[in-house]
Amino acid sequence: MEEKDFAAHLTATLTGSALTMLLGIGHRTGLLAAAARGPATSAELAERAGLHERYVREWLGAMVTGGIFTLDAGAYTLPPQHAKFLLGETAANLMPSLLTLSAFTGILPDLERSFAEGGGVPRSAYGPHLETLGAKTGDSWKHIYREHLVDGFFGAVPGLNDQLTAGARVLDLGCGTGNAIAVAARAFPASRFTGLDINENVVGQAREATEDLPNAEFAVGDAAHLTGEYDVITAFDAVHDQDRPDVVLRRVRGALAEDGLFFMVDTNFSSHVENNVGNPMAALCYSISLMYCTTTSLAEGGAALGAMWGTEKASEMLADAGFGHVSVLESPRPQNCIYVCRP
Ligand SMILES: C[S@@+](CC[C@H](N)C(=O)[O-])C[C@H]1O[C@@H](n2cnc3c(N)ncnc32)[C@H](O)[C@@H]1O
Repeated sequence: MEEKDFAAHLTATLTGSALTMLLGIGHRTGLLAAAARGPATSAELAERAGLHERYVREWLGAMVTGGIFTLDAGAYTLPPQHAKFLLGETAANLMPSLLTLSAFTGILPDLERSFAEGGGVPRSAYGPHLETLGAKTGDSWKHIYREHLVDGFFGAVPGLNDQLTAGARVLDLGCGTGNAIAVAARAFPASRFTGLDINENVVGQAREATEDLPNAEFAVGDAAHLTGEYDVITAFDAVHDQDRPDVVLRRVRGALAEDGLFFMVDTNFSSHVENNVGNPMAALCYSISLMYCTTTSLAEGGAALGAMWGTEKASEMLADAGFGHVSVLESPRPQNCIYVCRP
């Protein structure tokens, strides 16, 4: 990159960080929701949101010059085609991811200490920062499941939806707050769904969210000790940050029926950084991997595969775990792929 192009690139990078912080403010103060109700002057918007106009005006300055709002004859507008990425109960809304990313600022001193001293930041350290910045665990994927789980993700594997309709024993590994099971158990009442997660707190939330679903149950436990027999085991974004992913994959293989399916959704990148240059999602995912996946695994003395372990490494590990047939499919999200793994 030429010097002047790099200077512009870096300025855009700083602007992106600043706008990320201000959009978080817009979410928590209710400014974005108020703006979505229609064009307003800064005074009108401040009144609508019950805020001080001087702050709102400066915030709007950043929103307009940052390309989020438009300004016409003194009226500030959040266009509907922008609002859908910042508000609402759809998979397009990036606010949950934005809030989670902002919350990582809280653990930076611990992360930096780990660069020097080794070890890592434990998962428990994130909770208070997520809470302070209004991020809720699992929210990023909640709407993705609602919109894409059945047709987009499961639909990518021929025959899977028919199998689930007929009735199958399904385990969701690293189920988190149970968002995938909440959708699947409703869509496939003849199948029985078990969610497994090591985190007691998220399992409690999963149980609450599915208490009306008789075919959904949850267990607190370590996937490295998985036993039982299942027709389908799913793992959504839950293998790369395992402390012992090799052990977990072997356990998954051992807990599958002979004609069973391991359906693993993970990140869609190469294991080799040079192949990820130019991928518009790569720098963001490496950053998230560093600030969460890698360090939380290192905190437990884990393998620290990181979110960017890549399709080459994942395929190798799946083969080592005893999966003879693995194919990698595109998913409804470009940053994820689906590993269809059979014994
Ligand atoms: C990135 S979250 C994904 C959660 C969920 N699949 C979703 O899509 O919302 C990864 C989950 O794996 C869980 N996890 C990590 N290590 C685990 C282990 N050894 N056994 C079971 N669950 C584990 C974490 O507690 C976390 O809820």
